[in-house]
Amino acid sequence: MADFLLFSVLLVMAIAVFICVILSIIGIYFMISSCFMSYPPPVPSSGLLKEKALQDICDYLQNKKGLTIMDLGSGWGTMLLPLAKRFPQHRFIGIEHAFFPYMVSKLRARKLPNLHFERGDIFKTDITGADVIYCFLMQKLMNDLTPYLKQNMHSGARLYSCRFYCPDWKPAAAVSLGSKYDTYYLYIKD
Ligand SMILES: C[S@@+](CC[C@H](N)C(=O)[O-])C[C@H]1O[C@@H](n2cnc3c(N)ncnc32)[C@H](O)[C@@H]1O
Repeated sequence: MADFLLFSVLLVMAIAVFICVILSIIGIYFMISSCFMSYPPPVPSSGLLKEKALQDICDYLQNKKGLTIMDLGSGWGTMLLPLAKRFPQHRFIGIEHAFFPYMVSKLRARKLPNLHFERGDIFKTDITGADVIYCFLMQKLMNDLTPYLKQNMHSGARLYSCRFYCPDWKPAAAVSLGSKYDTYYLYIKD
């Protein structure tokens, strides 16, 4: 009887450990795939160029009310978090398709009522209400996204594209810290 009880307990423990291992493998796969298989990977904006773009966006938002600012491909939320903290009068929306960065950004935004992250595809997102759009993507993505941006941004809306330009669209400014790679492009919809 005691042997049977011991056997049952060990069996239950073995099954529980097995389930935990399987769930961990699935979780790790999910994290890795959402971080490294997304294109481009969720590398946050960083360095002097990010600081410059952030400062210029802040200068634009200063003394304005009720604007909507979107980060298309918002990653971990790195760009919108400081902006949302500094400008409670504006609304900030990040769109991200990779599950893990999206979840982390949502967690980081939990205390900011003016900051929302949505899981979605930037090519299918309604951007017509955005007054300011920020992108840090890849050249190929910007090539594909440009017609959608031109078609859907409202007149006067601003696009800040970090490092990658929009083909066949003359920028209102190209702010360079040296090399072509260290440049952000500002576009203003006609
Ligand atoms: C280089 S990261 C930039 C993150 C953030 N904007 C920043 O500046 O810190 C680009 C992000 O775009 C996301 N992304 C790429 N294509 C996307 C799509 N079609 N829809 C939504 N997100 C996308 C990637 O998953 C990645 O997190």
